[in-house]
Amino acid sequence: MANRANRQVTLVGCGPGGAQYLTGQALAAVREADTVLGPPRLLALFEPLARSVVLETARAEEVAALIRTLPAERLAVLVSGDPGLFSLAGPLRRLLAPGWQVRAVPGISSLQAACACLGLEWQHMQVFSAHRATPAQLAAAVESGASDLAVLCGPGRQPQHLAAELLKTTRGDRRCHVASDLGEPTQRLWSGTLRRLAQEDFVARSVLIVERRQS
Ligand SMILES: C[S@@+](CC[C@H](N)C(=O)[O-])C[C@H]1O[C@@H](n2cnc3c(N)ncnc32)[C@H](O)[C@@H]1O
Repeated sequence: MANRANRQVTLVGCGPGGAQYLTGQALAAVREADTVLGPPRLLALFEPLARSVVLETARAEEVAALIRTLPAERLAVLVSGDPGLFSLAGPLRRLLAPGWQVRAVPGISSLQAACACLGLEWQHMQVFSAHRATPAQLAAAVESGASDLAVLCGPGRQPQHLAAELLKTTRGDRRCHVASDLGEPTQRLWSGTLRRLAQEDFVARSVLIVERRQS
């Protein structure tokens, strides 16, 4: 077992998907690691790898427990997008420090990529994770009209589900945008209204943006 004090964990932001979104820093961090952990989709971006461990879970406690058992000195943990936005990286850093040297490599977040592809600015957006925000919180943010909303969607909380929910709980209709499967051959960019979105069929790996003004 390696001396724990020397062990480094690098949380590597890998962008939304596709090799074109990887940064030079992410490539270097993976090159310098002796063991790389990540979900299959992200590990595949760096193949071939000398030593990799497939993460079957995104639960930080389980990943931290696994890391503690590995006889490696320099580990890289691959996370999607940027480590600072609704990422496994946040709780993992808190669980491993103190006692471990933990650093992060920034990545292009799905929100950044979505806005660039859709021609939108994101400096005034309020950002939510569909899994952490309750329907009532999303509705209140939309109703307040204070800012545009960006929602990172997920399984069971796809853009069309959120649109249907917002139409029931807020007044009027709003212009909205969806970016799904960014960086993949199946990438889809869409703009319309909540009413039209409720009839669409988007995958869970999507970013939904709802404009603050009623259309
Ligand atoms: C656990 S969050 C991680 C977000 C990540 N830290 C980031 O900066 O993009 C996962 C969510 O990000 C969004 N996402 C990640 N990759 C995406 C992609 N390629 N296309 C669209 N949305 C994506 C989806 O909403 C997905 O459910």
